Amino acid sequence: MRVLLIGNGGREHAIGWKLVQSPLLERLVSMPGNPGLDELGDIVTDVNPTDPSAVVQLCEDRRIDLVIIGPEAPLAAGVADALRAASRPVFGPDAAGAMLETSKSFANEIMAAAHVPTSQSVTFTDRESAMLRLEEMDGPYVVKADGLASGKGVLVTAALDEAIDWVDACFSGRFGSAGETLVIEEYLEGREASIFFVCAQGEAIPLEAARDYKRLGDGGQGPNTGGMGSYSPVSDLPEDLIDWTTTRVALPVLAELARRNIDYTGFLYVGLMLTDDGPKVLEFNVRLGDPETQVLMPRLESDLLVLLNAAATVGLRGQTVEWNNLAAVDVVLASPGYPDRPETGLAIIGLDKVNEALVFHAGTRHAETGTITSGGRVLNVVGVAGTIEQARSEAYAAANLIQFRGKQFRTDIATPFTGTEDREST
Ligand code: AMP
Ligand code: GLY
Repeated sequence: MRVLLIGNGGREHAIGWKLVQSPLLERLVSMPGNPGLDELGDIVTDVNPTDPSAVVQLCEDRRIDLVIIGPEAPLAAGVADALRAASRPVFGPDAAGAMLETSKSFANEIMAAAHVPTSQSVTFTDRESAMLRLEEMDGPYVVKADGLASGKGVLVTAALDEAIDWVDACFSGRFGSAGETLVIEEYLEGREASIFFVCAQGEAIPLEAARDYKRLGDGGQGPNTGGMGSYSPVSDLPEDLIDWTTTRVALPVLAELARRNIDYTGFLYVGLMLTDDGPKVLEFNVRLGDPETQVLMPRLESDLLVLLNAAATVGLRGQTVEWNNLAAVDVVLASPGYPDRPETGLAIIGLDKVNEALVFHAGTRHAETGTITSGGRVLNVVGVAGTIEQARSEAYAAANLIQFRGKQFRTDIATPFTGTEDREST
C-alpha cells in the first residue's frame, strides 16, 4: 500500500517508524515530514497539509491508498471530509468530529447528552455574564477559550483577579476567534490520566496507557509545555480504568456522534481527572498524544497499517491490538528558550553516536552544515528495554550523546513519583 502520513512532529516520526515495519507498506509519503521521516520514504513540502483539495489532488498524483492524519489542524480544516468525499480511505475524523477537540462547548454538549461524567461548566459569549459568574463562584477558577489555542487557552488559578484578567484577555482577542466563546468550569482535583482509542464505525479499541510530563522542569516545576517526556507501561493506574473509559466515555460519545450523523474514524484521546468521586473527563483530543505515541509505537506488536486501514475501510470488527513485554521511556530534548521563545538554527551533533536508543525527530531540519534545530521540542530519545529502569538509563545515555547549545531536558522522566507531581498526566 502507498500511505500518506500528514504531520511533522515526533508523534508522526514514531507512527511512520511503525508503519514501515508492515509488510503491506509499499511506500510512505510524509507531508510535510521531517528529517527522520525523510529517511523512511518520500517527503512532500510544497503542498499545504491543511488545504483539503490540494491534499486530494496529491493523493491522485501519488496514487495513495490510505491517508493517516497525525495533528488536529488538518482535521479541523476538513481534510478528512474532502478525502472521504473523493472516496479516499482516511484515518482521522471529519471536521464535525474534530469539534470534540476544537470546541470545548461542543465537547460538553456531547458529554451531557451521552451522560459522560465531566466537570460542570457554563459557556459564555459575553464578558459581563462571564464576570458575574466568576464573582458568584469560590475558587479555584478554570477558564478555557472555547476554540483551538495550541494548548494555551486554559487558565487554572486560585486568584480571582487572574481569572478576571483572563476573561478580559479572551474577549479582547488574545486567542483570536478561539477566545470569542469561553467556558468556565468547576475545578476538579486529583491525578490526571489519558486513555487513547482507535475508533471506527461506533467501535473503540483502547491502547495501552502512557504517562507524559507536561511541565518544563524536574519535579513538575516551571511552565507548561507540549510534553517533555513519557513512559509506558504505567503500573499505578486504577485496574479497571481502561474498561471504564471504554464503556462510560468512548462508546457513549461515539454513539452520540452517530446520532448526529457524525461517523468518527480516528484516534480519540480522553483526558481524565481521577477525582475522589471517580474519573471525570477534562478534555478530548482527536489525535494521539505527543510524546505518548513515541513510547506506544515501540511497544505495539500488531501491524499498525493493518489496524488503521481496517478502521478506514471495513471497520474494526475482528481486529485486536497486541503489545510486547517491553518498556519504553522517551526523554525530549528541547531548544533553549522553549516553551516561550525557542531558539532555532542550532547545530545538532552526536546523532550518529546513538546506537542503543531510538531517536524520533520533531523540531529539526536539514541544512548544508548538517542537522539543525528548527523548533521547540527538537528530538525524542526513546530507550526500549525489558524494564522501565533499563529503558530509562538507555534513554538518558543517548540523550547525553546528543548535543546542541542550550539543550534542555528533564532528568526525572520515569522515576518513581515523589508526590509533588500529581498534576502530571498519564
Ligand atoms: P485541557 O486542555 O482542557 O485538558 O486543560 C489543560 C490542563 O488544565 C489539564 O491537563 C489540567 O491539568 C488542567 N485542567 C483543565 N480543566 C480542569 C478542571 N476542570 N479542573 C482542574 N484542572 C483542570
Ligand atoms: N501530550 C499531550 C498532548 O499531546 O496533547
